[in-house]
Amino acid sequence: MKQLDVSAIKDGSVIDHIDSKSTLKVADILNIKAEEDVVLVGMNLSSKCLGKKGIIKIGGKILDQKEVNKIALIAPNATVNIIKDYEVVKKFEVIVPEMIEGIVKCFNPNCISNYGNIKTRQHLLSKNPIKLRCYYCERVMSANDIVLI
Ligand code: CTP
Repeated sequence: MKQLDVSAIKDGSVIDHIDSKSTLKVADILNIKAEEDVVLVGMNLSSKCLGKKGIIKIGGKILDQKEVNKIALIAPNATVNIIKDYEVVKKFEVIVPEMIEGIVKCFNPNCISNYGNIKTRQHLLSKNPIKLRCYYCERVMSANDIVLI
């Protein structure tokens, strides 16, 4: 019999196929603490492609593009599903944009983007594993260096 590990939701967003260890980071990006509708978080669920996966279900919320872009930086294999009346009405894979603006802090303390009112900008060099190059100081950041704004 087919069984759901985490129960179905009526309306909202499901972020599936998160690398299990990144689940709580994704939960932080989405600020689930502030949600008032149902929120379900699952970790170490079995997955055919990832071995173990994380899943986050947020009732009553449709993710916006900025949130999806941030998720892509932390969980490049994630799938976002939009649920309406218990049905999956939209399913998309997260995509890390070629140019990331105003999302990631440059890890170089001397970078000009850490002073004044300059919006951070990085070029995507590699998606998986993630590598970003700062548009201003040209330093290259890996997953461990990424601090979201
Ligand atoms: N889901 C949910 N509530 C619903 C419908 C679906 O929480 N009312 C969740 C499912 O548990 C699943 C995700 O949304 O984690 C996607 O649903 P579905 O496309 O039906 O599952 P799969 O075919 O397993 O998805 P995929 O092919 O992306 O692995």
